[in-house]
Amino acid sequence: MPTVFITGASRGLGLEFVRQYKADGWDVIATCRDPERAPDLNATGAEVFPLDVTDDAALASLGRTLAGRTIDVLINNAGIYPLKGSQGSFGDIPADPWMDCLRTNVVAPWKVAETFVGNLEKADRPVLATISSKMGSIGDAASPGSVVYRSSKAGANMVVKGLAIELGPRGIICIAFHPGWVKTDMGGPHALITPEQSITGLRGLIAAATPADNGRFLAYDGQEVPW
Ligand SMILES: NC(=O)c1ccc[n+]([C@@H]2O[C@H](COP(=O)([O-])OP(=O)(O)OC[C@H]3O[C@@H](n4cnc5c(N)ncnc54)[C@H](OP(=O)(O)O)[C@@H]3O)[C@@H](O)[C@H]2O)c1
Repeated sequence: MPTVFITGASRGLGLEFVRQYKADGWDVIATCRDPERAPDLNATGAEVFPLDVTDDAALASLGRTLAGRTIDVLINNAGIYPLKGSQGSFGDIPADPWMDCLRTNVVAPWKVAETFVGNLEKADRPVLATISSKMGSIGDAASPGSVVYRSSKAGANMVVKGLAIELGPRGIICIAFHPGWVKTDMGGPHALITPEQSITGLRGLIAAATPADNGRFLAYDGQEVPW
């Protein structure tokens, strides 16, 4: 059975990825900040490891633990959304939460890729999926607010493009995904779709991915998202 590696799997979209891949019989390596406080994740029966994606030492340690294992699909899912909407208004945005957001949403996906590239290279058709957001689309941006999150996901998109250029020639298909506006803690109760719908769509795209998809930015329904 193929193996999937997922960050930020304690809840939300990460947890739904775990559930669906487990139900399909995959070997699931699920990581989260605090496994002892992730009862829903533990109930899936996945192999769970602690990982704060901003902790370089923890990342290196997990890299050593998993050395030699094949990873067919790696999902950079962990993310944060500080200073939502008008909480972060022009003239009133503190720098520290902005830097935390960049560390989690931009730097970490690159560091995760560096750590597990050897595991991906062992797979026949490896896919490195990064959960970005349409909020990070510069072409789509038209309203004020959420600049902290928006700028982080725009950065994540450039990280994916950089990974695609670096790793595409090594056979790894790197894709940025917009999961839709989804009912999770982050998306809130008024979001348009359920985690089941989003992840069903994303898993279908990951399963169908070919080298021609390397460096693309796709929504969960397969539509191309403008950078
Ligand atoms: N929901 C949406 O509508 C939507 C739309 C576009 C994009 N996205 C993106 O989709 C991804 C998942 O979002 P979600 O809706 O599932 O959000 P969520 O419900 O808030 O869950 C976020 C997950 O990320 C984890 N996380 C945060 N910082 C972390 C860190 N430093 N190290 C490891 N894990 C960390 C959280 O772990 P803890 O439980 O430890 O906090 C949690 O498991 C994010 O990248 C988000 O930006 C979501």
